[in-house]
Amino acid sequence: MSADTSQPATFAFNAEYDAKADAIIARYPAGRQQSAVLPLLDLAQRQHGWLPRAAMDHVAVKLKMAPIRVYEVATFYTMFNLKPVGRYFLQACTTTPCWLRGSDEIMGACRKVLGIGGGETSADGLFSLIEVECLGACVNAPILQVNDDFYEDLDGPATERLLESLRRGEVPPMGSATGRQMSAPAGGPTTLNSLSFDAAPAAAKGAE
Ligand code: FES
Repeated sequence: MSADTSQPATFAFNAEYDAKADAIIARYPAGRQQSAVLPLLDLAQRQHGWLPRAAMDHVAVKLKMAPIRVYEVATFYTMFNLKPVGRYFLQACTTTPCWLRGSDEIMGACRKVLGIGGGETSADGLFSLIEVECLGACVNAPILQVNDDFYEDLDGPATERLLESLRRGEVPPMGSATGRQMSAPAGGPTTLNSLSFDAAPAAAKGAE
């Protein structure tokens, strides 16, 4: 890792997060505490806003791991930010299902409204954007993750409205931009859309 002037010299969990970390570690069997590395890195990032090297070192001490093992994990997963990011961390899925459903429009809206592309932060410092691989919600593609929330079924104009709202400090409801429930068919139900009951089974049951 290269020298970075934004890196704090030290990091430690505060009392609240230290208690949470201990509770997480206690879930694992004796000798398997290192399995808590992902949730502890997540805690560190939530406390600090991003994940400085000092935080990784603190997690390494907490889990009795070699620091390099923690760096390996932290640098692999895109949800860990190794440098400061904006208040809104945007993760645009551009994997095939989202791409086929219009992820280019999402990237275009970010460029148009925020003036940024993947790996960049807006001039006002509010938004950071990265392209990510499948977010696991392909059936509601295309997806833009904003911090912890998924915004689904987006197109260019819907993404622009979402970004403008965020910039005003409003947080629109997460979920489908088209209003469909959960992962229901986008064009409405195509099967089991009417109910008909056969009297025969009921009659047979009455005869039992
Ligand atoms: S491809 Fe985008 S959520 Fe799966």
